[in-house]
Amino acid sequence: MHQTVLLREAVEALVTTSDGTYVDGTFGRGGHSRAVLQRLSSHGHLLGVDKDPAAAAVAAQLSATDSRFSFFHGSFAELPTELASRGITGLDGILLDLGVSSPQLDDSERGFSFQHDGPLDMRMDTSSGETAAQWLARATEQDIATVLKEYGEERFARRIAGAIVSARAEAPIVTTGRLAKSSVRPIRAGRSTSIRRRARSRVFASSSTASWMIWLHCWRRPWACSKWAAAWW
Ligand SMILES: C[S@@+](CC[C@H](N)C(=O)[O-])C[C@H]1O[C@@H](n2cnc3c(N)ncnc32)[C@H](O)[C@@H]1O
Repeated sequence: MHQTVLLREAVEALVTTSDGTYVDGTFGRGGHSRAVLQRLSSHGHLLGVDKDPAAAAVAAQLSATDSRFSFFHGSFAELPTELASRGITGLDGILLDLGVSSPQLDDSERGFSFQHDGPLDMRMDTSSGETAAQWLARATEQDIATVLKEYGEERFARRIAGAIVSARAEAPIVTTGRLAKSSVRPIRAGRSTSIRRRARSRVFASSSTASWMIWLHCWRRPWACSKWAAAWW
């Protein structure tokens, strides 16, 4: 079940004028959006944004029942153009609840979960762009190491990238389970058991920019890890 984080705190800080115009740039399942709408008067307006088609389906129901809400299926990076096309010249606040949503993690077909094996998709927007499997098939070892180091702050980046490339040479990596197995082996080899137990990993891709973000949330940030990652280890 999806539970919106910091719901009251975030919305109270965001909505300072009930007649204002706001953006929820990461609509998800609409937890924050519904709370924002509760604080808006009949003159207020909220634009929801999300890349995920499943979020768009939920937003369609909300916009059908509340005229103060509208939705844009796309990236918040496109907001300036989208706002201009809607004639919105000023905003009173923007909310970004960055990361993956729990429904995205729960559905193995999305390819974000290591708890249940699934296709290596990892796109936020499944309607366009390159899957993680496609990216992995063409990326150089250096590309993979850079992504792991830059986006994942992974200190074993080179070692893991080498292991992934070796696994790829045996057969294309097209499932989350196989990627996870080839990624964790070199970490296990380089850690003490107690550290290993605390290690967590998670991966996601941002395909609209054809960029791939890999987070190996480990010993440094256990609070950022999910129960499904814990189960993998
Ligand atoms: C943590 S969830 C948001 C949950 C939401 N606040 C709620 O209450 O349901 C993050 C959402 O951001 C979306 N997202 C990620 N990157 C995005 C981007 N560049 N533009 C728009 N949405 C994005 C994901 O698809 C996901 O639905």
